[in-house]
Amino acid sequence: MVQAYKHEPFTDFSTEENRLSYLKGLKTVEGYLGQDYDLVIGGDRITTEEKIVSYNPANKEEIIGRVSKANQELAEKAMQAAVEAFKTWKKVKPEVRADVLFKAATMIRRRKSEFSALLTKEAGKSWREADVEVAEGIDFLEYYGRQMLALKDGVPMNSRPDEYNRYHYIPLGVGIIISPWNFPFAIMAGTAVAAIVSGNTVLLKPASTTPIVAAKFVEVMEAAGLPKGVLNFVPGSGAEVGDYLVDHKDTRFVSFTGSREVGLRIFDRSSKLNPGQIWMKRLIAEMGGKDTIVVDSEADLELAAQSIMASAFGFSGQKCSACSRAVIVEDVYDQVLNRVVELTNQLTIGNPVDQSHYTGPVIDNNAFKKIMEYIEIGKQEGKLMAGGEGDDSEGYFIKPTIFADLDPKARIMQEEIFGPVVGFTKAKNFDEAIEIANNTEYGLTGAVITTNRAHMEQAREDFHVGNLYFNRGCTGAIVGYQPFGGFNMSGTDSKAGGPDYLLLHMQAKTTSEMY
Ligand code: NAD
Ligand code: ALA
Repeated sequence: MVQAYKHEPFTDFSTEENRLSYLKGLKTVEGYLGQDYDLVIGGDRITTEEKIVSYNPANKEEIIGRVSKANQELAEKAMQAAVEAFKTWKKVKPEVRADVLFKAATMIRRRKSEFSALLTKEAGKSWREADVEVAEGIDFLEYYGRQMLALKDGVPMNSRPDEYNRYHYIPLGVGIIISPWNFPFAIMAGTAVAAIVSGNTVLLKPASTTPIVAAKFVEVMEAAGLPKGVLNFVPGSGAEVGDYLVDHKDTRFVSFTGSREVGLRIFDRSSKLNPGQIWMKRLIAEMGGKDTIVVDSEADLELAAQSIMASAFGFSGQKCSACSRAVIVEDVYDQVLNRVVELTNQLTIGNPVDQSHYTGPVIDNNAFKKIMEYIEIGKQEGKLMAGGEGDDSEGYFIKPTIFADLDPKARIMQEEIFGPVVGFTKAKNFDEAIEIANNTEYGLTGAVITTNRAHMEQAREDFHVGNLYFNRGCTGAIVGYQPFGGFNMSGTDSKAGGPDYLLLHMQAKTTSEMY
């Protein structure tokens, strides 16, 4: 019997003990910087000449590690290993599969500071953001393990006299797990283990900017007892290995988290029938966001300002859930805007190994250039109120940036920037604020700051996002508490960390016996 699920607590870094533990984690990570990591195919470690090099975005000179890079031939080998392993893994009892996740959760919990420190180094996360992400990864392991136990016997069905009906769930087959760099541990691990605990075998292709934390996670899953071939590790180019695997006839499903552009490409390609393919591939695709915080005239304005600031600039705005639009009812617009500017000007930016920095770099040179281009666009479209500058001399740092007085249809208000940039726009009243909030093609998260109960209920019905929050920010969903996923161009609304998630990786079978 397993204990009831409860989310992993966040670390209190105000205590000396926890601070020292984090610093110890950093030392451990510094001890293995620059090492090489292999592909893992059918349990075998494979080294390739060509490598993906992972750099510290806060310090371009520092190499986090180098992973071997799969090509199509190795991807094919991994596919065959996964096809073979599926024959036995699908028959392993759900309890045993869940146990692997529980053991992995315990192992990661014991190495929490090290995993957090690795996220600080490889993804540029502040201590707090890194700690929250490691907690989320542990939560996925604990939660999905329990969800599998809840689903293992299927659902009771009616049976007539002389009849015995059963309805239960079986796995799908081989899944391709394609994960992003912005939650390189939690989303990578969560999407992989959901598929695995449901009885599938997988090929994991992590983002090329953050493959080392994925390599460390694969080692943990092996140590937790996962049989060979169930989790195959195939870092590689999206265009080469990604397309090849998405198209493959033996691919039964794809679990993708990333941009709208790549998500739609996978949607298109995975819908095509390839020679020898005998099923319609299933696609789980969680994509971008353009998330809004609405502030009503009847509201706690300090809470509003704090929520906008934290949701816009935590991890430099590099969250699909980040607040990139603030829509404020006109009577309180100036007050909220000025307070957010004041709070933003107090933020410290710098190398996140230093605990005192609120936020660190953006992920790489491409992101830096793209965000700086958007900042130029913002200067044309609105009024620059804070930030607006970047420095890529050592790492990729961009000051938290605020634009005011934007047209709701401005590019800054419509396109996913994925950086520390938030746009403000004024609404005549609450109705108009909700209308503006809904006017993007995305529908991931949103928040409403109001003390007006009728407005709250109106938003509950009309604000069209997968995750809607009241009187708090729009980031930070917790596994098993706020299942996460979005509408429209934000994806297939899979609701990671929710009660229906594992079912997306399974198919239901009815058996009816006369006796
Ligand atoms: P991305 O789309 O560039 O890459 C995501 C993954 O897709 C990477 O592993 C990449 O290598 C791979 N890829 C690239 N081309 C591919 C192809 N042709 N075939 C198969 N795979 C391919 O996204 P990113 O920059 O890593 O992540 C940021 C994006 O992810 C943002 O848009 C963000 O909103 C989104 N995101 C969404 C969620 C969510 O739950 N909705 C969560 C995190 C991030
Ligand atoms: N699950 C993450 C959040 O809610 C993306 O911020």
